[in-house]
Amino acid sequence: MEIKKVGVVGCGIMGGGIAQVAAQAGFEVVASEINETLLKKGLGGIESNLKRNVEKGRMKPEEMAAIMGRIKGTLTTKDFGDCDLVIEAAVENMELKKKIFADLDQVTPKHTILASNTSSMSIIDMAMATKRPDKVLGIHFFNPVPVMRLIEIVRTIATSDETIAAGQAFAKALGKTTVLAKDTAGFIVNRILSSLMATAVRMYENGVASKEDIDTAVQLGLNHPMGPLALADLVGIDTCVAIIDTLYNEFKDPQYIVPPGMRDMVTAGYLGRKTGKGFYDYSKQ
Ligand code: 3HC
Repeated sequence: MEIKKVGVVGCGIMGGGIAQVAAQAGFEVVASEINETLLKKGLGGIESNLKRNVEKGRMKPEEMAAIMGRIKGTLTTKDFGDCDLVIEAAVENMELKKKIFADLDQVTPKHTILASNTSSMSIIDMAMATKRPDKVLGIHFFNPVPVMRLIEIVRTIATSDETIAAGQAFAKALGKTTVLAKDTAGFIVNRILSSLMATAVRMYENGVASKEDIDTAVQLGLNHPMGPLALADLVGIDTCVAIIDTLYNEFKDPQYIVPPGMRDMVTAGYLGRKTGKGFYDYSKQ
């Protein structure tokens, strides 16, 4: 099945990135948000990302204009009516995601593939909110979406071969490499990352080393581009807690117990870069 038009539900860090890379690859894109302020912020983020490419001489101004011209912002899911693929990138709340999938099932044509960018939640739970579970899969991007080369394609027990092939072809058209994962909590990457992150936070809480030294150790000793605490700030502490909780709920493995200090950070609104404070302070950047 040929995908021409792509819908993205949610225009936050991930949804905005997905809309951007899809439009850059030549797809027509419809990106939705729940209110005008968030939509403006999301589209503004895409614009400033592209502007940086123009300023660095990597993109012509007219290319940027063409990419922005392919992205239509909306506040209503009715505008997904002619999309061939819709990717949900809303917050990590299963009840909300089920509602979105039920709604998308109503407003999109029968052929439309419905995907979730969830970082860890059950895709089959979302699929069963629709009457087309064979056309539902996980298409999981990584942050920052324009930079990260991987997409996890997640197959449920109900996903058809055609849907998987269409998801893989879409990812390839974006220039990304895919891996195929079963529909288990955290798929591949976040299952591994959650152990690393929770261990690093516990070590910090137990005073094994400073946060800077833990991050430097992983950066220079394991050659990761950034340490796990800085990465938690990039991903968002709330998102990290949601992912680690999902893993614990599924596997009941103590390595996936959220370190208490991380939960306190969520309560205090220390969510990382997006709020200016997480493990590190970003207020002056
Ligand atoms: N959006 C778009 N492009 C960005 C970007 C962003 N938010 N941040 C960085 N870039 C690009 C820029 O093009 C920049 O090049 P430029 O300065 O020439 O324009 C290039 O990346 C390098 O950026 P910087 O020089 O500013 O900084 P770094 O070299 O330190 O790279 C990084 C930044 C790409 C974020 C790098 O540190 C990195 O790869 N970190 C690890 C990221 C990671 O692990 N992501 C996965 C998280 S897990 C996840 O997403 C799963 C989800 O389910 C939670």
